[in-house]
Amino acid sequence: MKKPFLAPALLALATSLILSGCSLNNPESAEAHYAPGLGDIMGATATRHSKLWFAGQAQNWALAAYELDELHEGFEDAEKYHPTHKHVPVPIPQLIASTMNKPLEKLDEAIKKQDIVAFTKHYDELTDGCNSCHRTSEFEFNLVTRPMFNPFANQAFTLPR
Ligand code: HEC
Repeated sequence: MKKPFLAPALLALATSLILSGCSLNNPESAEAHYAPGLGDIMGATATRHSKLWFAGQAQNWALAAYELDELHEGFEDAEKYHPTHKHVPVPIPQLIASTMNKPLEKLDEAIKKQDIVAFTKHYDELTDGCNSCHRTSEFEFNLVTRPMFNPFANQAFTLPR
């Protein structure tokens, strides 16, 4: 009477121990297996580039700083997951350094000084940098511009006072 009841119970216990053992030994396993494509990182980069513009123009400097930081993180991911890319003759980290580092640094300064004129100037330099890298990457048909209109229907860039 006891046997047929115990066997499935023991099996279930053993299975749950094995499963929990796996996730305990390897807490980052799910993360480690997901590497975003460069195109995916770029899609997020384009959104942040756009939000950075609206944040800066609204002089919402905390949001601008946040979006700038997100841009940095995206480029870090690009370097980490895609040190080289099929059509790109130069290593990705090297291209990011030559096209992005200076405008990102200048934007950081402008945001800290809350200087809208400097922000706008260096934003355009950032955009030029995106396109410069796209040219080197044989990706010049993807032309980045200042955002032409605000597509974010559910976010207030100017905070209520
Ligand atoms: C390292 C050079 C490099 C830099 C810097 C760079 N890009 Fe890209 N970008 C690429 C490459 C290469 C692709 C094509 C990736 C692919 O699909 O494999 C791409 C693709 C894209 C795409 C197409 C993705 C899609 O799903 O539509 C957009 C949009 C884009 N980039 C925006 C930007 C913006 C905005 C910036 C600047 C803030 C930027 N990129 C900076 C190299 C770069």
